[in-house]
Formats: sequence, C-alpha cells, structure tokens
Amino acid sequence: MKILIINGPNLNLLGKRQVEIYGDKTEWDLKRLIAKYTAKRRINVEIVQSNHEGQIIDWIQTKQYDGLIINPAAYAHTSIAILDALLAVDKPKIEVHLTNIDDREEYRRVKITAKGVDRMICGKHFAGYLKAIDIIEAIILRFPEY
Ligand code: DQA
Repeated sequence: MKILIINGPNLNLLGKRQVEIYGDKTEWDLKRLIAKYTAKRRINVEIVQSNHEGQIIDWIQTKQYDGLIINPAAYAHTSIAILDALLAVDKPKIEVHLTNIDDREEYRRVKITAKGVDRMICGKHFAGYLKAIDIIEAIILRFPEY
C-alpha cells in the first residue's frame, strides 16, 4: 500500500519558522517519525514538499499512490486549482493541518481545498499525519475497491 504525503509552501521551514506556532521540530523530524511509525507495517510512504502550486498539482495527477495526505499550507485557503486536482482523484484523501486553522486569523477559516478531500485533521501537530495514515490504511484494507 502506497501513501503519498504532500506538504505545501513553507513547510520546509518547520523548526525555524514561527516556532511559537509550529514548534521546533523540523520536516526531517516529521519524516523520521513517519518512517518509524510505518516501519513494521505494509505501508510505503513517500513524502514530498513544494512551495509551488503547479508542482503540487502535477504530483497529485502523476504520482502513483493508493491514498493521499496533503497539507496544502496557505494554498488550503486560496487554491481552486489544487481543489480541482483533488476532486479528480478517486482515492482516500485527507487534509492535515498542524495548527487549528479555525482558532487563528479569520482568513485561515476559508477552506477551499478541504472540499476535495474525505476529511480534515487540524491542530494535532505531527500526530495528525499519523492519524491520517491510520485512517487511510483502514479504509484501503476494508474497501480495497475504493
Ligand atoms: C498550516 C496552516 C496554514 O494556514 C498555514 O498557511 C501553513 C501551515 C498548518 O499546518 O497549520 O503554512 O497548513
């Protein structure tokens, strides 16, 4: 089972960027955590990050995966193009946000890409990705024809 994780703009700066909001753990820490979490399971996880909307859309369209986890970062609030790409994919999809976007600035409450996924997990920091992996695995195992 292959799960693709796409991280959007500025998530490459985790650990340096607004540590009071996003914490001091880096993207590398996230990758290591996910690798450990899935090590003894039959899940192959690929994690990619881009600051570019078109690159994210290309990955959604062309990469091979059974389930998708996406943190579109700021594009979550603006990108109809990423929404359209997500809507074209008939596979389990979960949007993750490290922070609780409803408890922050007004403009972060606008959820555009969320309309293209099955569910959203917010405010659980890195644990949100682990939860998303578990949910996608459970869906694929129960409904292989999804
Ligand atoms: C974020 C929330 C977004 O509003 C913000 O633009 C980010 C990170 C999160 O993971 O909490 O870059 O997606």
